[in-house]
Amino acid sequence: MCGIIGVISKDNNNVVPDILNGLEKLEYRGYDSAGLAVVGAAGLKRIRAVGKLENLINKLKINPISGAVGIGHTRWATHGKATEENAHPMLTRDVVLVHNGIIENYKELKSDLLKKGYEFTSQTDTEVVAVYLQMELDNGLSPREAFQKMLRTVRGTYAFLAIFKARPDVIFCAKNKSPMAIGFGKSICVGSDASSISASCSEIVYLDDGDYAEVTKDGATFFDDGFNVVDKPRVAVTDDLINSGKGGYSHYMIKEIMEQPSAIRKTLLGNDVPQNFFDKVSRILILACGTSYHAGLVGKYWFEKHLRLPTCVEIASEYRYRSPVIEDDTLVLVITQSGETIDTLEAMEYVKKNNNTCRLAAITNVLNSAISRLAGFVFHTEAGVEVGVASTKAFTAQLTVLAKLAFCENFELLGQLQNLPQACEDSLVLKEDIDKIAFRIKDCSNAIYLGRDNLYPIALEGALKLKEISYIHAEGFAAGEMKHGPIALIDDIVPVICLCPSGSMFDKMFSNIQVAQARGKNVIVFTDFVGAKSFDKSVKKIVLPPINQELYPILYSIPLQLLAYTVTVLKGEDVDKPRNLAKSVTVE
Ligand code: F6R
Repeated sequence: MCGIIGVISKDNNNVVPDILNGLEKLEYRGYDSAGLAVVGAAGLKRIRAVGKLENLINKLKINPISGAVGIGHTRWATHGKATEENAHPMLTRDVVLVHNGIIENYKELKSDLLKKGYEFTSQTDTEVVAVYLQMELDNGLSPREAFQKMLRTVRGTYAFLAIFKARPDVIFCAKNKSPMAIGFGKSICVGSDASSISASCSEIVYLDDGDYAEVTKDGATFFDDGFNVVDKPRVAVTDDLINSGKGGYSHYMIKEIMEQPSAIRKTLLGNDVPQNFFDKVSRILILACGTSYHAGLVGKYWFEKHLRLPTCVEIASEYRYRSPVIEDDTLVLVITQSGETIDTLEAMEYVKKNNNTCRLAAITNVLNSAISRLAGFVFHTEAGVEVGVASTKAFTAQLTVLAKLAFCENFELLGQLQNLPQACEDSLVLKEDIDKIAFRIKDCSNAIYLGRDNLYPIALEGALKLKEISYIHAEGFAAGEMKHGPIALIDDIVPVICLCPSGSMFDKMFSNIQVAQARGKNVIVFTDFVGAKSFDKSVKKIVLPPINQELYPILYSIPLQLLAYTVTVLKGEDVDKPRNLAKSVTVE
């Protein structure tokens, strides 16, 4: 989490507008505070503000600063509260630094620096690095020597950008486990992602772990972890890397919900499963977090039913710490929107280290991300840049890839998949009906989501969507599990949101709904035209278009996203930037 950006103007122009533009694109990575620093006529100048970027922009209107070289940061707090003192950049007498990641040995470094008489103004791990650099400059090292020595000393994850007063023409950059891209075009830019630097860059270099670079207006020199100069390949900036804004919608989330028919259509066009992909595969292990984990759970239903391959889905943050048995001939499938989630990346590294017979494939929305570079094979969800913190179109695109994989031997179902974009399009017009339901939910403190079979994971996902953006406590349950405990939660107020389309699970689910209705008055059912006939007026219904039962998870995700969105708007909460969250989770 945290976003970093650095810009050097080739024509000596003020880079503050470009830094702010980049920070706006990076706000999805954290919005506890924002700050920037430039090299101006009077040396290093810094400005910081607590909260969202607009606070920094307002502060800059009163106290403008400018310069042709600068760095910026948007923070997701790890060490130290979201205060101005803890906001980046960290500034000492001769150096200014921004950081994304966590310095693991900061306590020992700090106590050493304190003993040497250095002072600290923040509670952050990052300031220790800035002060360490200052100490090495005081010891007589050059900026390059100090920076290299620092890289040998710190342990942890990082993307660093530093400017030294003595070398105001250079941004020193280094990366380990946190993403970093360097762009070349009208300006030279460094950012946490390609989108943040795409406005003024046409070509990009992705740094690898252990790399460091010195960037000036004439270009960049790259060094490997032995500090040898190396060449790095440049790739062109393509449309899929560019965040094209809200497109007239009031929030990214609703724009991204509406984009799902086209995201699914594009994902269906690519991602053909190579012949023999499942040869010598005896089982599947899926590793993922959050919403991507829910996609994996749907994958389990599909893979076991249609490929008859035993499938295990693991929460990546738990997986590598419990000494799991990794059997030979396992296809390890990693699912991640960002391609950067550290828990998922580390779980993948664990598999790589512990069993070299496993095939590693990733489903990701960001090509060139750390995970796509580590995977042997990549399926690319063609969802385009997803900015809203709550994942929507990336989730249904992940499901689309999983469906293509699971149905690869079933031409009937592959054919049915082609009906999906239109059905999703038709489900989007349900927004008006959903608005009415949202009124019944917005003032509740709790909500229950129920599903069975391949809609059980969608009940989990629907609950996650609601709780993460509206702050209403929501839980998803397998409907059959209700009677084993959760049924105690049902009263006349709590909304019980049931996924109950026609099909093989209808009768069982219908009975579960009767049981819920006997105990509560706020039962809401998402069903189809056939299923709707069985419910009387006492149940509030949302009626979805028909689709093959195997594809329910994709279609039924959409109204639940709309519901979470609408409830959140009614509550007046920040849909795209829910509290405490960030989109790309690069801390464990
Ligand atoms: C919730 C959400 C998160 C992510 C999770 C994993 O809406 O988006 O739960 O799914 O942080 O992120 P990725 O998919 O980028 O690995």
